Amino acid sequence: MLYIGVDLGTSACKFLLVDDQGRVCHQVTRDYPLCMPRPGWSEQDPALWWKACLDGIPALLAGFDPAQVQGIGVGGQMHGLVALDGDGAVLRPAILWNDGRTAAETDYLNTVVGRKTLSQYTGNIAFAGFTAPKLLWMQKHEPELYARIAKILLPKDYLVYKMTGAFSTDYSDASGMLLLDVEHKCWSKEMCELCGVQPEWLAGLYESWQPVGTLRPDVAAALGLPETVKVCAGAGDNAAAAVGTGTVGPGRCNISLGTSGTLFISSDTFGVDATNGLHAFAHADGGWHLMGCMLSAASCNKWWMDDILNVTDRDYPAEQAPITRETLGRNPVFFLPYLMGERSPINDTDARGVFLGMSMDTTRADMTQAVLEGVAFALRDSFEVARSLGIAIPRSNLCGGGAKSPLWGTILANVLGIPLDILVTEQGPGYGGALLAMVCCGQFADVQQAADALVRVSRTIEPDAELTARYEERYQKYKQIYPACRPLFKQLAQ
Ligand code: XUL
Repeated sequence: MLYIGVDLGTSACKFLLVDDQGRVCHQVTRDYPLCMPRPGWSEQDPALWWKACLDGIPALLAGFDPAQVQGIGVGGQMHGLVALDGDGAVLRPAILWNDGRTAAETDYLNTVVGRKTLSQYTGNIAFAGFTAPKLLWMQKHEPELYARIAKILLPKDYLVYKMTGAFSTDYSDASGMLLLDVEHKCWSKEMCELCGVQPEWLAGLYESWQPVGTLRPDVAAALGLPETVKVCAGAGDNAAAAVGTGTVGPGRCNISLGTSGTLFISSDTFGVDATNGLHAFAHADGGWHLMGCMLSAASCNKWWMDDILNVTDRDYPAEQAPITRETLGRNPVFFLPYLMGERSPINDTDARGVFLGMSMDTTRADMTQAVLEGVAFALRDSFEVARSLGIAIPRSNLCGGGAKSPLWGTILANVLGIPLDILVTEQGPGYGGALLAMVCCGQFADVQQAADALVRVSRTIEPDAELTARYEERYQKYKQIYPACRPLFKQLAQ
């Protein structure tokens, strides 16, 4: 038997074909562009995601028996606003998770409605990338389009809708809309009223592994799959990645170094960070999690390598070769990774990238190293918030594109001072999607069982005492840079 896991990412959609032993039999990726119509804005046409499926899934199946495919599970980029009209047509490009246009709406929600009230209703405060402030923005800036809204979906829910015709979402992804009462797993009436959201716009709520339907006959024919294939509700990409890395049940941690960077701490009870620096969301295993999310992680490295250095053939390891153990923790150059503003824990849409500390002898490699270190330090900021809440994080899983770099893994393990486990299957969200599909189809009784049976650690990056001490000293300096720059960021944004 076979299952398909889909990772609907920001730069590409990745498809995994997984057998019932958990082996990845085939994988296919379809890239698409990100549209930034103005500085700090970030949009994508949902038609690109669907085109990626229509193209990617038949390619994934080439050489395999499609009749063996039982189920599909999708993990997707969170928070994006997909607004549909009464005919199910997309009203405007989706406004993505890393879009910063809603500073005014976010500010209104956090100060006029108030953080305390928001947190009472949803477990969270407003961040610019969340879905509710985007609806307020649309109401103000695109009233004609807003008046035509009949349904609002999250990105992966749009794919599930195209596949099955069902309007569904799951608790993990719905948590990031600021419209869900996360603790009680139901839509918040108060939030919907506050944001002018009509109840019939909202999708049906499911646990991530629950089936929402089977493939529509025309879709089954187009994908080359049987109509009996079940589609489960799926999950936000971070919850899906947590499933795919075995970060399920209480007290586990997963770090994802993708376009975004996240620190994900699973729990079997609902808990809120009193400072609201970390998101309090539902998990795809039936429980909950706390999460810190930075908006630019592996994307900082990609920007530096591709857009600035124009590295030949994307050979990042060659570019990083001069960075040795000797230089780790001794770099005079610092980098603030706020290329899209920042979410956790500082919640500042005006923040921007900064290189600091260069001199005439600074090398290209020092700056490359500073980018990797800056991302690790920014993740440490969320790690420190978790620690301040009394949460122990003795070790973590590591996944995402950045996890492929042993150098970056070493830097991160020493900046955090904990061992990092790399999994046999590093495709976190796609693999998690496939595991959810297996639970949906009855191969496992629950998500914990699926993860226990199929997720395996391939190697562990251990921190070492000397490097951890060097990085501790550097982090104490790094920590002072953002507070010093903050007033300037505000001025420059005006
Ligand atoms: C999480 C978040 C990002 C996106 C990236 O809150 O915004 O991790 O899900 O795809």
